[in-house]
Amino acid sequence: MPQDNEWLIQQTADYVRQQLAMAEAGHDWWHIQRVWNNVKLILQREPADGLTCELAALLHDIADSKFHGGDEALGPRIAGKFLRSLHVSEDIVQHVQAIIANMSYKASLGHVAFHSKELEIVQDADRLDAMGAIGIARAFHYGGFKNRELYNPEIAPNIDQDKETYKNSTAPTINHFYEKLLLLKEKMNTTIAKHIAKERHAFMEQYLAQFYKEWEGR
Ligand code: ADP
Ligand code: NI
Repeated sequence: MPQDNEWLIQQTADYVRQQLAMAEAGHDWWHIQRVWNNVKLILQREPADGLTCELAALLHDIADSKFHGGDEALGPRIAGKFLRSLHVSEDIVQHVQAIIANMSYKASLGHVAFHSKELEIVQDADRLDAMGAIGIARAFHYGGFKNRELYNPEIAPNIDQDKETYKNSTAPTINHFYEKLLLLKEKMNTTIAKHIAKERHAFMEQYLAQFYKEWEGR
């Protein structure tokens, strides 16, 4: 990678780290760093534009609509403004914006008109971080942030949700496993992510089995 790209990526990382200083712990700088590392790992196996993938990974949660009154255009807009200030070429800026707008799980439940190899890679990288031991920690942290119940045996998970129902759910955190986390394994795009997802999925299943065992006092 030429010097210039490295500089752009480092400037972006510094900006994001500073912007996310007060972020909720499931969507903070460390989440971004893990997703960025996942992207670099996937790029070792998949030919794609590395600069686009790394910039999109770094900027993908710069203004998550969940924390900004549902405004889904804000993240792409802030990312675009920042990249243009660094004079990143316009085609890359627009590609990064399209990835951010379309990569989320929520977006994938609606109509997605945009596809690219780079979107697939960043999406896999983000979704891997929602699985396994870290995925479990993030889910319960988010549930706590929203003051959700851990589990309620009287409230069944709502699988097959559309985008609006998913967005407005206030269900207990255990339900989120069935409504999203356990579905991610089948939604991976790249071979390497499918492989990693398998192990993380098995760990979540083991966790749930133990959770019910303890819940029921067995
Ligand atoms: P995406 O960025 O793919 O749209 P989200 O931002 O919805 O995904 O989810 C990111 C993380 O936030 C998930 O890994 C999950 O841990 C947590 N999260 C989101 N919604 C919920 C929820 N309803 N209950 C528990 N955790 C959630
Ligand atoms: Ni993310």
